[in-house]
Amino acid sequence: MVDLAKPEDLLHGDVVVLACGTWNTGGSEGQLSPHMHVYLRDTAKDVDLKGRSFAVIGLGDERYFYTARAGQYLKQFVEQHGGSLVVEPLKIVNEPYGQEETVRAWAKTLLPHLQ
Ligand SMILES: Cc1cc2nc3c(=O)[nH]c(=O)nc-3n(C[C@H](O)[C@H](O)[C@H](O)COP(=O)(O)O)c2cc1C
Repeated sequence: MVDLAKPEDLLHGDVVVLACGTWNTGGSEGQLSPHMHVYLRDTAKDVDLKGRSFAVIGLGDERYFYTARAGQYLKQFVEQHGGSLVVEPLKIVNEPYGQEETVRAWAKTLLPHLQ
């Protein structure tokens, strides 16, 4: 639960996976979900991610113009704080049912980065 997370939680493990639904936080569409917004913009805004590895997952719904754009903001946060993505961002649009193969294929690219 990101509302309980501390900045230093981003510094543990081989790879930290950040995942977030896309919301209309602050009024316009295509934003981070409210708790992730607060965490990245306030709670963890000064964290140094140099040398740290990440993977990001953006969730969303095709009814919206900025479909699953939260993933882009997660990527931006990681890179702006000196971290790097070890795999391509995963985007999950609409219900995840039937998308298991996409998730499995993505997870396979992540696996070698876990020790
Ligand atoms: C208030 C609200 C705004 C949303 N805005 C977007 C959006 O701009 N783009 C998008 O792709 N999905 C949008 N969605 C769909 C959510 O991203 C999707 O339902 C989400 O992945 C479900 O995860 P959650 O229940 O953790 O939010 C929105 C959903 C809600 C409730």
